[in-house]
Amino acid sequence: MNEDSLMRPEIEDSSELLQEYSLRPQTLSEYIGQTRVKENMRIYIEAAKKRGEGLDHVLLYGPPGLGKTTLSNIIANEMNSKIRITSGPAIEKPGDLASILTTLNKNIEEILYPALEDFCLDIILGKGPSAKNIRLNIPHFTLIGATTRVGNLSTPLYDRFGIVERLDLYSSDDLKKIVIRSSGILDVDIEEEAALEIARRSRGTPRIANRLLKRVRDYALVIGDGKLDLDITKMALKKLEIDDLGLDNIDKKLLTTIIKLYKGGPVGIDTLAATINEEANTIEDVYEPYLMQIGFLARTPRGRIVTPLAYEHLGIEQNNI
Ligand code: ADE
Repeated sequence: MNEDSLMRPEIEDSSELLQEYSLRPQTLSEYIGQTRVKENMRIYIEAAKKRGEGLDHVLLYGPPGLGKTTLSNIIANEMNSKIRITSGPAIEKPGDLASILTTLNKNIEEILYPALEDFCLDIILGKGPSAKNIRLNIPHFTLIGATTRVGNLSTPLYDRFGIVERLDLYSSDDLKKIVIRSSGILDVDIEEEAALEIARRSRGTPRIANRLLKRVRDYALVIGDGKLDLDITKMALKKLEIDDLGLDNIDKKLLTTIIKLYKGGPVGIDTLAATINEEANTIEDVYEPYLMQIGFLARTPRGRIVTPLAYEHLGIEQNNI
């Protein structure tokens, strides 16, 4: 593997950000979970290498924090290629990044498609009657698109990705392995039960698991002896207001709002968003996937509904509303 290909952003000394990057696996074999995606990528990468060709364009999609960027870096590493991470010159705020892939304007799409398909750029030199069309060949490259909202890609753009993989929320078992791996890297002594406790409360998301691990580590260092056992872990998670299933205050606000103001639903996403003062997209991308996975929330054609399981977890009587 070529050192340059790691392309880690340059960050100063031992900040938390640097730690964040050191927790990220660099190869497919270090990467825990997402078995189907890993197995598929392993085959495609090996096949491309056997043929001596570049990899087809890859589209990775799924909720935030599951490792789309990490996987993109790994793909580059495994292909012994350099990765260029771009967000485009026009990006000023986070939402702009999404719009690059979702609402490429027509002019950009016209340049992008020949590049993706034939590895050439059609450029117009000069202006007016003397303008010339030239076709510039460019070296083979693999575009790795990573998005939480695959439905927003235009069909022509989507169709140009030869490999499309969806990342799913992780099982507690896989998250536990990730927490134990991260603890090793952070030089934290952790009991298996404590790792499982963090895993169970991480909403299927490695980014959350690693964040909770670091905060629990802080509590253990200041209040305990630095060792992460089940007691200190539960105590810290309580202070962090993360409940038994990993629900935070916003999850609870979302569920109780549907219950108390909309009789358990159905309620439309935009109405709900306005009521709890969150973006509809954030609710859909960040909060709903986990609430739906644990069976607390369902999407119906008429809007969102809260399930009996959620009433039970929140300790609210269903017929008491
Ligand atoms: N750290 C964050 N995500 C990970 C993963 N999927 N495997 C191993 N370590 C990780």
